[in-house]
Amino acid sequence: MHQLAQRFIAAGGHELAVFHLCEPDRFVVIANSCPHAGGNLSAGDVEGNVVTCPWHDWAFDLDTSACTMNEQVCVKKYEWKVEAGVLFAKLSNE
Ligand code: FES
Repeated sequence: MHQLAQRFIAAGGHELAVFHLCEPDRFVVIANSCPHAGGNLSAGDVEGNVVTCPWHDWAFDLDTSACTMNEQVCVKKYEWKVEAGVLFAKLSNE
């Protein structure tokens, strides 16, 4: 098993896709909008550390944020931390 959960979250004017992955246990917070045409990445299938956009099947490495077919294309990725059991994402790094 490589994935524990995935969620869409709207916060601070941002639409985010949050993934809880395991082996190792970690979160990935990315922009929910696919850089191709705005697909909903939080609804994508996850295999290992790769999420596939449900619209046209572009795939993104959640650890590097790069598209697996073209590394020049990346999805926006946010720093995060967990404090007292709450996940915080740093949204000001745009
Ligand atoms: S919108 Fe994501 S692959 Fe086209």
